[in-house]
Amino acid sequence: MASNQPVMSQKMRLYNGVEMPAVGINTYRVRLDEEVHMFVDNALSAGYRLFDTAAMYGNEVALNRAFEKLLPKYNLKRSDLFITSKIVTRSRASYTGIKRVLEKTLKNLGTDYLDLYLINYPTGNTSSRKRTWAAMQAVYEDGNISAIGVCNHSKELLRQLASSNSPPMVNQVEWNPLMHDEQLYAYCKRHDMVLQAYSPFGTPFASDKKLFHYPVIRGLASKYDATVAQIPLKWSLQRQVAVLPVSTDPAHMKENINLNFRISTRDMDLIDAIAPDYDQYESRV
Ligand SMILES: NC(=O)c1ccc[n+]([C@@H]2O[C@H](COP(=O)([O-])OP(=O)(O)OC[C@H]3O[C@@H](n4cnc5c(N)ncnc54)[C@H](OP(=O)(O)O)[C@@H]3O)[C@@H](O)[C@H]2O)c1
Repeated sequence: MASNQPVMSQKMRLYNGVEMPAVGINTYRVRLDEEVHMFVDNALSAGYRLFDTAAMYGNEVALNRAFEKLLPKYNLKRSDLFITSKIVTRSRASYTGIKRVLEKTLKNLGTDYLDLYLINYPTGNTSSRKRTWAAMQAVYEDGNISAIGVCNHSKELLRQLASSNSPPMVNQVEWNPLMHDEQLYAYCKRHDMVLQAYSPFGTPFASDKKLFHYPVIRGLASKYDATVAQIPLKWSLQRQVAVLPVSTDPAHMKENINLNFRISTRDMDLIDAIAPDYDQYESRV
């Protein structure tokens, strides 16, 4: 295997100076205390420090319990973790509304701050989205959140927020060799916003691992003595896109953070050139 050390030390620097681990783990697939405990145990052991949750995942309290028990086991403190949560905003979210939801999330997670707080998806019209973002910034300025951002925002939606005092620091979107919006990518780079990939394997419904069968991916996995899952992750990281692989399998968890190989520029181009698979995405609408 090409990789044997976690890339836990690799960080992405947000424009406000916050350093975010480049590889994190999304937690949406675990909810019950016991499964969350096992998941966090395996993830900490593999080297993950970024845990990505959301109020709507319903696992914040279970994560709190797991961190309480497991951080001492790994000789870690809260400050060694990077915790992201997300809020679903109504079309007219106010400062007090966001503050109330944040306080509940903080209480559930047993922490007095979040490393990153994201709007889960855009709602409302342009003016309501701008008001919501202004409220989000006011909550950020209160100091219980180290960084703020959004999810699922197109270039056009980001542009609407660009003139604010603190534009989004992170935009978490679906990103993988079958779905990479290059205009959005260029816009984020130009405006110093970090793109963070969910569904980095292009597996929107878990059952379909189509990308893993692409000859380019299989060929490169063999060339770099890596696995078919490691190639799309490394491709994203080399493009400076942070990744959030989802796995509940301890062996996959390790594989997804042990990425110490380098894809050549020529091979990066081969992955870039994989045709987007819009059929896959249309079929789930
Ligand atoms: N901000 C957002 O809006 C947001 C964020 C995250 C997710 N989502 C939603 O959640 C949906 C699903 O997200 P997803 O695609 O990331 O997760 P997913 O559907 O759970 O896909 C991950 C799949 O890859 C497998 N896998 C992981 N590592 C592997 C490895 N090394 N080798 C082989 N298989 C591996 C996992 O199985 P094992 O457990 O067996 O490893 C799992 O079946 C998305 O379409 C999106 O709608 C939204």
